[in-house]
Amino acid sequence: MKNKFQKVRAEFLEKLKAVNDANGLRELELKYLSRKGEFSSLMHELKDLSLELKKELGGLANNIKQELETNFNEVRDRVNRLSAKNSLIDITVPGIEPPHGHLNPITIIQREMEDIFSSLGFTIFDGPELESDYFNFTALNMPLLHPARDMQDTFYVDSKNKDGALDLVMRTHTSPVQIRAMKKLGAPLKVVVPGRCFRNEATDARHEHTFYQFEGLIVGENINFANLKSLLELVGKKLFGPKTKLRMRPKFYPFVEPGNNGEYTCFLCEGKGCRVCKNTGWLEIVGGGLVHPEVLRAGGIDPEKYSGLAFGFGLTRLAMLKYGVTDVRLFNSGDLKFLEQF
Ligand code: PHE
Repeated sequence: MKNKFQKVRAEFLEKLKAVNDANGLRELELKYLSRKGEFSSLMHELKDLSLELKKELGGLANNIKQELETNFNEVRDRVNRLSAKNSLIDITVPGIEPPHGHLNPITIIQREMEDIFSSLGFTIFDGPELESDYFNFTALNMPLLHPARDMQDTFYVDSKNKDGALDLVMRTHTSPVQIRAMKKLGAPLKVVVPGRCFRNEATDARHEHTFYQFEGLIVGENINFANLKSLLELVGKKLFGPKTKLRMRPKFYPFVEPGNNGEYTCFLCEGKGCRVCKNTGWLEIVGGGLVHPEVLRAGGIDPEKYSGLAFGFGLTRLAMLKYGVTDVRLFNSGDLKFLEQF
């Protein structure tokens, strides 16, 4: 019996030496130390012995049991320490950068414009892309049969009003929000309106059915053409640098009087003439003028008391010029090779 205990002890200690992981430990524990393990069965056999032998072997067995457990625990601690060390995170290893999205260049230029105009005290105002015929045309001094409607090839939506006329359109410009802003805010006001617009264009590198504009409107007492000119000059300098010049040439828009086309000196050649400005030295970017009295009236504002100025930047065109994009269709293409450059 004594030999059996010694044999189990020797076997156990021998095997323990070879153990170096948690699995090995578990196996050893099961085979020897668990309730049904080899050591417990030997202890079990003790109860059939005489009292004297029981005493003698009992003491030995307990000592051996303690010895085995102590050794076992030591190895277990070592294995635990080792595996904790192996799983430590090395914070000096360079990380794996997760892929991240890019802003569309039109969003970048929109935010830049919003910053410029916010700093000048403008409120950013919003309007719907699906607009009523009334706001998009009629209230802007273009009644139903006005020929100026033809300048903007329009997507009409198949819904008729009670008189049987088509009365919803995909807005062709951001100008209808002028009326919405006047009705909502009253005079005096100072707003800008960035937004998506739609026209039925045959698309090519320079024409797109979906594009962005950036509208502006000031209504107040004694707002005049000099205010418009100085404002657009200032914005041009902020956008393209302090040497930028503005020139204004007459242009007809039904909702302004007088109306004009604003052109800036080309930021690339500074007016000398190059590929970007098609050798003219000037970039046509912004339409504007003084708000037509009929338009103020449609917005609920008294044209005898107040006057206004309005302008509309082609935001998509601005982005094309600024980033040298030669095909307008790239902006809405979702092409990552294009977008990841910004
Ligand atoms: N809405 C005009 C366009 O789409 C631009 C414009 C806005 C002109 C405001 C004058 C005043 O071409």
